[in-house]
Amino acid sequence: MYVYQNGVIKKKEDAALSIDDRGYTFGEGIYEVVRVYGGRVFTLADHWQRLKRSADEMEILLPDYFTRKHCMETISQLVEKNNQPESWVYLQVTRGVQFRSHGFLDNMTPMITMYLIPAGSWEKERQGVKVSLAEDIRWHRCDVKSTMLMANTLMKTRAAREGYFEVIFEREGFITEGSASNVFFVKEGELITPPLSNYILPGITRSYIMQLAGRLSLKCIERPVKVAELPTMDEIFVTATGIEAIPVSAVGQLDYRSPGPVYTQLMDEFNQDIEKL
Ligand code: PDD
Repeated sequence: MYVYQNGVIKKKEDAALSIDDRGYTFGEGIYEVVRVYGGRVFTLADHWQRLKRSADEMEILLPDYFTRKHCMETISQLVEKNNQPESWVYLQVTRGVQFRSHGFLDNMTPMITMYLIPAGSWEKERQGVKVSLAEDIRWHRCDVKSTMLMANTLMKTRAAREGYFEVIFEREGFITEGSASNVFFVKEGELITPPLSNYILPGITRSYIMQLAGRLSLKCIERPVKVAELPTMDEIFVTATGIEAIPVSAVGQLDYRSPGPVYTQLMDEFNQDIEKL
């Protein structure tokens, strides 16, 4: 398996990291997951923009050589060298190496790694998955795509142990997002999704779905959604790069129609776009 590390493509066995990397000691890292369909990179411009924003917000300096063009070329090379046209690209940037001390130095050299993960298929899940509901115990900067995901991984694992595909978070009575996904609702034919804020990740799939809705003349409203409204929803689905969109058949004890008609309409359109890539 070939991977990328700070400008160089190498065998995975030859990639090494320092135990003083602040991504390891303090969880100081940002990341992106990008989808490659049939060797073609999907929505890289959007991922690139979000990565740059995460870097700026966390004061991680992306080196000059690490441009969007370089990133695109690297993904193409990884796809070719690994012969893996259906992939998820995992791209991670940590602050870099420094002997452990809470305060970080100026002008640190980040550690950039990229590798491919074989894309999963979700045939069974596309019929509907059960999700749980839990308190959102994360920090106040969920808009940054940080690798510091202990609350997400803990809650996801606990949900999975109880047979749930995903856990949806609530903060002070309002739905925020899933542990690794954004959430959409359908009510009386209209799409609803929580508005962007520091409590949710601005998902690339979320915005893609909103564009598709526009194309299909489906009304999509960004507004806060109360937990108390859950019983009034007709359909629910979760979105993320890895899963595209997956319909929810139950939130805890509440059942929903899945796959619902609006979900199906959006996924048909999504699949047509992928075929045209
Ligand atoms: N997760 N919200 C959270 C907390 C996420 O972790 C993700 C994606 C999303 C959806 O974002 P996007 O549509 O840009 O993938 C929303 C990625 C895929 C992951 O951690 O593997």
